[in-house]
Amino acid sequence: MKRIVIAIDGFSSSGKSTMAKDLAKEIGYTYIDTGAMYRAITLYCMQNKLIENGSIDEKTLQENLSNIQLTFQLNKDTGRPDTYLNGINVEKEIRSMEVAGWVSSVAALGFVRRELVAKQQEMGKAKGIVMDGRDIGTVVFPDAELKIFVTASPEVRAERRVDELIAKGEEASYKDVLENVKKRDRIDSTREESPLRQAGDALVLDNSHMSIPDQKKWLLEQYYRVINE
Ligand code: DC
Repeated sequence: MKRIVIAIDGFSSSGKSTMAKDLAKEIGYTYIDTGAMYRAITLYCMQNKLIENGSIDEKTLQENLSNIQLTFQLNKDTGRPDTYLNGINVEKEIRSMEVAGWVSSVAALGFVRRELVAKQQEMGKAKGIVMDGRDIGTVVFPDAELKIFVTASPEVRAERRVDELIAKGEEASYKDVLENVKKRDRIDSTREESPLRQAGDALVLDNSHMSIPDQKKWLLEQYYRVINE
């Protein structure tokens, strides 16, 4: 059967990772979470004291970047890939609030983006991948056979984020979370390097009022349509 590249881009908390992971599992493709790669580089900066006094030591990061090993390995319990930084499983650490607070700034550095985009292109060379991020359909794989752009209203995304935080036992105020969602949208969409934007040939999915099973069904239909073309 024809193997393709599936690029899934969209706003934070739009539910794109859940969709991408479920699809990859269903069709036996490799799932690649590019946000996790930017998060792992951010964690590296923290562990090596390259983020201090509110700024990033760009020079040292640039010198060391090509020696940083980022890999994914399937976690048998969750059925999803975990992120490894220089051979160590950092899946939990990269989801911390501290990393979340710095990752947008690290992801805005041109030399970091160039290095990670090259790695992502290498990972997708053999096709058979579902890659999720912000610039997959525009920069990483502009020729991807299937491109999806996922969106939902900021209010719906803030509600989802509050539910997630509460489920993890963390405190969350809807008002603060909504502000944070809007702020991240602004940073992601207006940065100079590869801003978040919809590829001209992407299919847009506004899932504000869709259930997860309905999204899954819609995405599978798009996949079968493309591979049968
Ligand atoms: O999807 P996420 O929340 O894990 O992404 C973390 C950060 O990385 C977010 O600020 C956007 C950025 N990112 C990016 O700039 N390009 C990508 N391809 C993926 C994520």
